[in-house]
Amino acid sequence: MADYLIAASILSANFARLGEEVDNVIASGADIVHFDVMDNHYVPNLTIGPLVCDALRTHGVSTPIDVHLMTKPVDRIIPDFAKAGASYITFHPEASDHVDRTLGLIRDSGCKAGLVFNPATPLTYLDYVIDKIDMILLMSVNPGFGGQSFIIATLDKLREAKNIIDQYGSDIRLEVDGGVKVDNIAEIAAAGADTFVSGSGIFNHSSQTDPNRYDSIVAKMRDELARANSI
Ligand code: DX5
Ligand code: ZN
Repeated sequence: MADYLIAASILSANFARLGEEVDNVIASGADIVHFDVMDNHYVPNLTIGPLVCDALRTHGVSTPIDVHLMTKPVDRIIPDFAKAGASYITFHPEASDHVDRTLGLIRDSGCKAGLVFNPATPLTYLDYVIDKIDMILLMSVNPGFGGQSFIIATLDKLREAKNIIDQYGSDIRLEVDGGVKVDNIAEIAAAGADTFVSGSGIFNHSSQTDPNRYDSIVAKMRDELARANSI
């Protein structure tokens, strides 16, 4: 049985009530808070930084926080996120001049490290650094915005990444990010992913005032994952 984790991307949450949104989505059964950091340089959008990560920890959020850096440069901000309570820090290899050094910096800061692959980025970046990686994140959309459609070629890339992980024989997590919804999560799991980022699929759901509104959507994702496990 695969150990599946659902990572709720707060990019689609209501930022005016962020603490409450995170509490509700965790209470609904999400396992991880996915924290999208955009710098209006590496990607054409601007979001949140270490202050907000720290605020969530101070608010009482104790689940893992998965910081997805879409910034260039990368290294400067890593110690700040480690201090702010990040659990995972992932970055895009094209955004770092020294990928090996950046991976080391993340682990030395006490966090788990990961590489993020854009839809057109080859997995060869893994070749000489796989021993320094705790998570491989495959983008199934081009980074920068929530609410885009899942790029179907990611399924083959997931199978390829899963083979690499199996051959290496370690417990590296295989995460997928972008366009993940109830109706495609089982197929994505069957291709090898074990960690599923979903933003608009969870947060842009039904009533804005019902505190339990995420329950049914996360439960449906779990049902679909159980179905994938039994295939
Ligand atoms: C896109 C972000 C994603 C985004 C996913 O650059 O990395 O985490 O929030 O959003 P959905 O699930 O709406 O595609
Ligand atoms: Zn992300």
